[in-house]
Amino acid sequence: MNSFNGNSIVMVAVMLLLATVVTAAPNSCAKLDTQTDPFSCCTIPKLLDLAVVGKCFEQYPIDQPDAKGSKPASSTPQTDCMSECILNATAIYDKKGDLNDKKLNNVFLDSLPKNSPWLSVVRDAVKQCGETAAKKENEFKKAVADQKKAAGAKAGPVCNPEASFLVDCIHTTVFSNCPTTLRSTSADCDAIWKFLKNCPFSALRQ
Ligand SMILES: *[C@@H]1O[C@H](CO)[C@@H](O)[C@H](O)[C@H]1NC(C)=O
Repeated sequence: MNSFNGNSIVMVAVMLLLATVVTAAPNSCAKLDTQTDPFSCCTIPKLLDLAVVGKCFEQYPIDQPDAKGSKPASSTPQTDCMSECILNATAIYDKKGDLNDKKLNNVFLDSLPKNSPWLSVVRDAVKQCGETAAKKENEFKKAVADQKKAAGAKAGPVCNPEASFLVDCIHTTVFSNCPTTLRSTSADCDAIWKFLKNCPFSALRQ
């Protein structure tokens, strides 16, 4: 852990989250052939407290993807727990584990300076992802129930996949809506922006 500074912990953590969430992509979203790291096309602001993310990452270390980028099947619950840990620590989840929408909005917006060009982008992303999460509530509940059943007696921690969904959705939506003035304009980045108009971020990295 000591070889990571705060920034790279967040980068690693967010990249792992992004690689984990499986989004149903339209067929036309088959892998985009680019060597370019999408995050080099737009530097998104830090939306979460580095100390919190670092602490949760240490508590629930996620296995690194192998060389081909595939991850061990068991890593998803860890990712969910890391995300849940972040939402707990920021009180986005209250003591009962219920989502506090106002807190969700505040935590992500408070990280930005008052005149940030990202304010409206982040506000929209939080709103959109919060609404999508609400629609998927039954799906998340079922996933938790299934995991509890599967874990049986030797149950490790079972965490809510909603947490990873929210962290992932907000970061990828913010990235996809990077203000034009802050975008890099290389040919590779242009291809990535075009791709993201119709395809989810998760289809970029497979
Ligand atoms: C989050 O908080 C809830 C309620 O206090 C607790 O049951 C759960 O274990 C916590 N999750 C993590 C990952 O720490």
